[in-house]
Amino acid sequence: MANKVVVNADVKQGTINKNIYGHFAEHLGRCIYEGFWVGEDSDIPNTNGIRNDVVEALKNIDIPLLRWPGGCFADEYHWKDGVGPRENRKRMVNTHWGGVIENNHFGTHEFMMLCDMLGAEPYINGNVGSGTVQEMSEWVEYMTFNGESPMANWRQENGREEPWKLKYFGVGNENWGCGGNMRPQYYADLYRRFQTYVRNYGDNKIFKIAGGANVDDYNWTEVLMREAARFMDGLSLHYYVHPGGFWNKGSATDFTEDEWNITMQKTLYIEELIEKHSTIMDKYDPEKRIAMIVDEWGAWYDVEPGTNPGFLYQQNTIRDALVAGATLNIFNNHNDRVRMANIAQTVNVIQSMVLTENEKMILTPTYHVFEMYKVHQDAERVALDLEVGEVKHGDTSFPQVNGSASKKDGKINISLCNMDKDNSATLDLQLRGADLTNVSGRIITATEMNAMNTFEEPENVKPAAFNGFEANGNALNVELPPKSVVVLSIAE
Ligand code: AHR
Repeated sequence: MANKVVVNADVKQGTINKNIYGHFAEHLGRCIYEGFWVGEDSDIPNTNGIRNDVVEALKNIDIPLLRWPGGCFADEYHWKDGVGPRENRKRMVNTHWGGVIENNHFGTHEFMMLCDMLGAEPYINGNVGSGTVQEMSEWVEYMTFNGESPMANWRQENGREEPWKLKYFGVGNENWGCGGNMRPQYYADLYRRFQTYVRNYGDNKIFKIAGGANVDDYNWTEVLMREAARFMDGLSLHYYVHPGGFWNKGSATDFTEDEWNITMQKTLYIEELIEKHSTIMDKYDPEKRIAMIVDEWGAWYDVEPGTNPGFLYQQNTIRDALVAGATLNIFNNHNDRVRMANIAQTVNVIQSMVLTENEKMILTPTYHVFEMYKVHQDAERVALDLEVGEVKHGDTSFPQVNGSASKKDGKINISLCNMDKDNSATLDLQLRGADLTNVSGRIITATEMNAMNTFEEPENVKPAAFNGFEANGNALNVELPPKSVVVLSIAE
């Protein structure tokens, strides 16, 4: 059956905030240490201790924003341990993630330097679970106060004269769980209290993000919005795809056809979550002033055999390219409320962009999707309607194709995912409101459903030119191969 896609290029639907393409880096496993930070004395090429290869790779996908230092780590992190001469910094145990020594060599100054190198905005997550109001307040003063103050003076003694610009600040993380096991009423009160002392100094204006719900905890959103909406600019949401459930997630590489299908179905479930949480937010914030910040998302599987279970290191296959492509399409399509998202996590942890092994680095299929989709960053969303068939398999079913469309720099870009691992999808794509001239396409796909890049074969899965379309008046007949992510670009 031909699936129908209608793109109304003149029906504009607001800007797709580039921060939807944001990232997350926690002091977890080999993300910060080894992944970003190798230290100045390392043989791995670095600039002031930060790996050059990883920075270059991330700049190539126009990384807009980076969230740090956690995650669960954020609510155990005491920022003062991570400033001043490195040799004097406190060594501690990263109790949450693998029980390894954290030497605090990567702290506030190093993170801000990393963001400068990447050209990315910093998003810092403060500690509510085990921290104090004073500690949080002083962190913001340390980073952003311009003039004479105890914290600004200390920052200067530590080598940074000018304050940094800091916009995004999270007041706690997963405070329903690792961030303190709180009830929403209690956290709402704490949020109100802590955020009071997150000050705007000079012209630095902080965008305050409250810790939001886990998956479908709609009561959390209801209580936070009811009690604290006027004190926040953003409310977060966390959702991970675990094909086998949290306790038995399944292998990243060695999975069955059923697991493929369940992964796709669970990926698309995020749309229902966004819609239902948005409906609650609309009740208290009909103007949509408050952004939904999906600051943790991705496919989370069992760790690679033989690796530290607390390090969350997993491989990444063409299945993950589909998870990324479909999720980003959903975020694009909810750009009125979803104005930031941060895939977990940038390097060597969960659904990574890049994997490293000593001096080697490989790009994952997920990375390539972010590279293909960068055309959507800060683009004008345009209307896209899909009428597509269902993939049905036992108890699992999901629409075969998902997509989104936007306009930027004189081009209409349409991203389409064929989530069916066996069958190609034939599309009748009607373009309205623009002339169909000059079409080009790019695709990422593979023959095997678990195709991946490895340190031995780093280019197994990568984008290629896509020619599977034929113009027919102002329409295109498109043939999307099974398990593929395609971006079509139409010059206006
Ligand atoms: O991303 C891994 C962990 O998942 C984060 O630390 C936590 O916030 C979430 O539960």
